Amino acid sequence: MNTVVVYTSKYGSTEKYAHWIAEALGCNAKKLSELSSEDLSNFDTVIYGGGLYAGGIAGFKKFLSKLRSTDDKTLALYMVGLTNPEMKDDYDQVADKNIPPEWKNKFKIFAFRGDQQFSRMSVLHKIMMRVPKSMAEKKPLEQRTEEDRLFIESFGKDVFFSNKDSILPLVDYINEQNK
Ligand SMILES: Cc1cc2nc3c(=O)[nH]c(=O)nc-3n(C[C@H](O)[C@H](O)[C@H](O)COP(=O)(O)O)c2cc1C
Repeated sequence: MNTVVVYTSKYGSTEKYAHWIAEALGCNAKKLSELSSEDLSNFDTVIYGGGLYAGGIAGFKKFLSKLRSTDDKTLALYMVGLTNPEMKDDYDQVADKNIPPEWKNKFKIFAFRGDQQFSRMSVLHKIMMRVPKSMAEKKPLEQRTEEDRLFIESFGKDVFFSNKDSILPLVDYINEQNK
């Protein structure tokens, strides 16, 4: 089957996952900006990956506008965030918010944990990262969640959570669909 991994990545985590997935499936990984609608129409299986930014999936709207039609394509979406994928409800909410009604149920959805490269962040992103940190700091200690502690402790630091093994459910799903 003709498969492609398409991604939008600002600091490299989603890109790293795209190359791991492409290697495991024996296909190519392409930046969304490199592909036209016509290019995408040539694939039977399309996997899209986007980093999470303030609850949005980077590039996903643009991707959908290029995808145009879902005609008998196998579609998968992977989100890459700092949030632990064990917090399934958080990722479910992001998917719910970002996937328009007409595209719901067309995508098999996966969530992977990415890195935070604070040292490489733009000034705007550094400022934006202060928001969840100060919200977490305002909570009494006993009410802080694991994510609150993460935002406080990792602020200003580079932290690396990307994990190649976490792609296996996605790879298995695509292989199963393409049997
Ligand atoms: C401004 C900003 C906002 C972010 N918002 C979220 C978020 O809402 N949820 C989350 O889980 N991670 C969030 N992150 C963390 C990124 O999703 C994470 O670093 C991811 O690895 C980025 O992927 P990329 O390098 O491929 O773009 C945010 C990071 C920045 C800099």
